[in-house]
Amino acid sequence: MSGDEKPPRLRSRDWFDNAERWDQTALYLERFMNYGVTPEELRSGKPIIGIAQSGSDLSPCNRIHLELAKRTRDGIRDAGGIPIEFPVHPIFENCRRPTAALDRNLLYLGLVELLNGYPIDGVVLTTGCDKTTPSQIMAASTVDIPAIVLSGGPMLDGWHEGELVGSGTVIWRSRRKLAAGEIDEAEFLDRATSSAPSAGHCNSMGTASTMNAVAEALGMSLTGCAAIPAPYRERGQYAYRTGRRIVEMVLEDLRPSNILTREAFLNAIAAVSVIGGSSNAQPHIVAMARHAGVELEPDVWQQHGYVLPLLVNMQPAGKYLGERFHRAGGVPAAMWELLQAGRLNGDCLTCTGQSMAENLGGHESHDREMIRPFGDPLMDRAGFLVLSGNMFDFGILKTSVISDEFRQRYLSRPGAEGVFEGRAIVFDGSDDYHHRINDPELGIDENSILVMRGSGVIGWPGSAEVVNMQPPDALIRRGVMWLPTLGDGRQSGTSDSPSILNCSPESAVGGGLAWLRNGDAIRIDLNAGTCNALVDAAEIARRLADEPPPPVPESQTPWEELFREKTGQLGEGGVMEIALKYRGTSKKLPR
Ligand code: FES
Ligand code: MG
Repeated sequence: MSGDEKPPRLRSRDWFDNAERWDQTALYLERFMNYGVTPEELRSGKPIIGIAQSGSDLSPCNRIHLELAKRTRDGIRDAGGIPIEFPVHPIFENCRRPTAALDRNLLYLGLVELLNGYPIDGVVLTTGCDKTTPSQIMAASTVDIPAIVLSGGPMLDGWHEGELVGSGTVIWRSRRKLAAGEIDEAEFLDRATSSAPSAGHCNSMGTASTMNAVAEALGMSLTGCAAIPAPYRERGQYAYRTGRRIVEMVLEDLRPSNILTREAFLNAIAAVSVIGGSSNAQPHIVAMARHAGVELEPDVWQQHGYVLPLLVNMQPAGKYLGERFHRAGGVPAAMWELLQAGRLNGDCLTCTGQSMAENLGGHESHDREMIRPFGDPLMDRAGFLVLSGNMFDFGILKTSVISDEFRQRYLSRPGAEGVFEGRAIVFDGSDDYHHRINDPELGIDENSILVMRGSGVIGWPGSAEVVNMQPPDALIRRGVMWLPTLGDGRQSGTSDSPSILNCSPESAVGGGLAWLRNGDAIRIDLNAGTCNALVDAAEIARRLADEPPPPVPESQTPWEELFREKTGQLGEGGVMEIALKYRGTSKKLPR
C-alpha cells in the first residue's frame, strides 16, 4: 500500500465499530476484553489476525506451534495488528482411527465457520502433519480472507546405529526385516523411536513435508518456510516474519483467490515431482484446487509432473532426511532448478507480494548430493503416472519409488518394457490382508499382484493408507521384497512401495475392483497408462448379476455417516461436493 492510499475497511469493523447497533458492539467488546485487549484497541481499526492453532497434545506433530504462536503474536503486534489465537480440529495422522482422512474435511468445515463467523481480517494457518495443510488452505480459500501458511517444520534427522532412519520409511523397512528374521520386536521398536528425535512432523519426504512444500510452491508461505526443522532458531524467526507479513497482506487486501490460480497449482505439481513427494499430494492438490475454483484434469499429472526428474535425495525415494534438505536450500532450491529449466511459471503472485521468480532469486543449492541439478537428476521421468482401465477410471503410481531391482524384475522384459502381467490376489480391507497374507493356500508368488479393495473414501470410510502391502514372509525370506500392489485406498507418503493407488471409483460405490476375483489376470502397461483385468464383458456382467458385492462396514459415528453422504472420490480430491459452491463467503458478512 502506498503512503496516500486509504486502507480497506476491514470486516472486523462490522463487529467492533457498528454505529447502528451500539448495543451489539458493546456486547462484543466487553467479552473480548477477557484476554487483555482494551475496547480502544479493538475500535482503533487495527487488523484482527487469527492464528489458527493446529497444535495440541492430540496433534503432536504440530505441537511446536504452541510455542511458535508467541513469536507470531509478536510479529502481528509489531506490524500493527491484534492477534487472536483459536484452536482448529486436531489431526494426528498415525493414531486416528479409522483414519485421519476423515478429519481433513472436518477441520475444513470447522475452520470455514470460524473464519466466516468471527471478526477476523486475516489468518495465519499453522500447518505440519499431513492433512493439517490442505484442510486449512481449503478453508481459507472458501472464505477468501487474507491467509498465510506457517509450517511447523520436520523433526530433526533420526539416527539408529549410524544409519539415517526416516519417519514412516523406517517402519516399512523394519517390517520387511522382521519378516525376514533379521531383527526382533525390541529392535523394531528401537528403530522406530530413533526416527523421532525431536518436536516436529515426519522428517522424511512423507505427506507432511510434501504438503508443506506444496503450500510454499503455491505461494502461500514465506520463501524457505516449509523445510526448516521445527527446533531450529529460524522457525521462531519465520513465525515472527509470518506474523508481520499477514498484517501487511490484510492492508494490501491480498487474498487466496489472488494466489491460488491454475498456474500456481501446476507449479505445485511440478514441485511434488522433483522432490519425490507423497502420492497423497494428488487428492490434496485436487481438493485445494477445486475449492479455489480450479479444475485439474487427470492429464496434468503427466504433462506437468511425470515428465520431470527426481532432484531431491530424500527418503523414501532417496537417502537423506529433512535437516540436510533444509541446509541444502530446501524447497526454494528445488524450485530454482525448475525455474532455470523453464518448467515453472515464475509470474505467479505469492503471499510475499512478489512473484515466484522474484522469491526464488539467488536460491541455487550448493549441496549437489542432496539437491541435484535439473540436467543431472537422480532419476528421469519421476512424477506420478496416471492409469485407467476396466477396473477404474483413475489411479496413480508414484514412479520415483520404483526401485532398479523392481524394474529389472518386472518391467524390463525385451519387447515388452513397462508391461507387467500378474495374477490378482484380492483382499477386502487390511484385517483380511493381515489374516491371510501368509496363507500358503493363496499360492502367492513373483507373478502375483496384491489388490486391496474396500479402502476408499466410502468403503473405509475416509480412505485408508493400506495399499502398500508387503509380500508374504516366505517370499521376503527368498529376497522378494516387493510385489506390485493395487487398490482403491491410499498409501503412506513415507512408503517406498510400487503401488497403483487412489483407484476411483472405489469398490464400495460399484467400481470395477468389486467384481475382481482371486486368480484373474491383470495387465499393467506403464507406457500406455493402462491397467486392465483380462476378464471379458460377459463374465463381468455375470459376476455383477450373480455374486454379492464386497462387504461395506457400517458407520460408527454421525460424522462418518455424513461424510459418506457428501464426499466424492479420491480422483476428484475426496472433497465435500456441496462445499464447492461456497467460494468467497467473506464478501458477504454473516447476519
Ligand atoms: Fe504427523 Fe507424519 S504422523 S507428520
Ligand atoms: Mg499418512
